[in-house]
Formats: sequence, C-alpha cells, structure tokens
Amino acid sequence: MVERLTFDVLGDERGKLISLEGGKNISFDINRVYYIYGTKRGVERGFHAHKNLKQVLVAVSGKCTIVVDDGFSRTEFVLDSPNSGLYIEGVVWREMKKFSDDSVLMVLASDLYDEADYIRDYEEFVNLAKARNNSEAK
Ligand code: TYD
Repeated sequence: MVERLTFDVLGDERGKLISLEGGKNISFDINRVYYIYGTKRGVERGFHAHKNLKQVLVAVSGKCTIVVDDGFSRTEFVLDSPNSGLYIEGVVWREMKKFSDDSVLMVLASDLYDEADYIRDYEEFVNLAKARNNSEAK
C-alpha cells in the first residue's frame, strides 16, 4: 500500500514547524529515522522492497522522485515539500531518483535496520508480491 500524506503545519510569525508522532499522524511506532543527503547528480538508489517494514518518506529539503512498484504497475511520486509524505507498506519495490542538490530525504521506519527484511532481487520481489496478492484474494 502506498499513500500520500499531508501534514499539518504549525506556523506563526517566526516560521513553520511540523510534528510527526508515532501512533498519531504516523500510523506506526517509529523505531528508526534515517536521511539521505548530499546525493550526487544522476544517482538512483533504492532498488529493493521490504518484507515487513513500514516507512514514511519526507523531502524535508529540496526535491526527489520516488518510483513505487507493487509487482503489477509502477507509479512515480514527486516529493518536494516538508509537509508532504509518502507512506509505503507491504511488498513494494522502490526506487529513488532525480535528487536536487539540496535534497534531504528523511525516512521514518517501523523497525530497526535488518538486512534480512530486504528483497534486493527484482524477480524474487515480483514472485513474492504476486504470491501475497493471491493469498489476500482468497
Ligand atoms: P542502501 O540500502 O544501499 O540504501 P538505499 O536503499 O537508499 O539505496 O544502504 C546503504 C548502506 O547503509 C548499506 O550498507 C546499508 C546501510 N544502512 C544502515 O546501516 N542502516 C540503515 O538504516 C539503512 C537504511 C542503511
């Protein structure tokens, strides 16, 4: 499942503030935060899916494009605002590209880093996505 989120902006004459809280405007408990920045021009990264992880991606600075693929179709989302997020859960292949020079992509994750949760082989991903889709349809 992939869903675009819009966060409330708490602003006053001093500027803006956004608060992300696990179990509130972020649906899961946040166990890890990481951010990708200083990305060189033309770099594309990601190219993996997760078995169980839930994530919210936020471009807290600059801009980037996230490609999501559920094994059946691919969709592109442009992240270019600190008040917009992309929620990704389930077996979804993701690729990240077109990072602006000032891009800081922050990712909130439901679990600690665990390489065993990654699927880095596209064919393996498609097989698992289709198998999960079949079992959910029953
Ligand atoms: P990688 O999975 O290649 O990043 P991306 O999916 O954005 O292309 O991760 C790069 C390196 O960082 C890799 O050696 C794994 C490590 N890493 C951690 O140690 N902790 C983390 O939370 C993440 C996301 C990556």
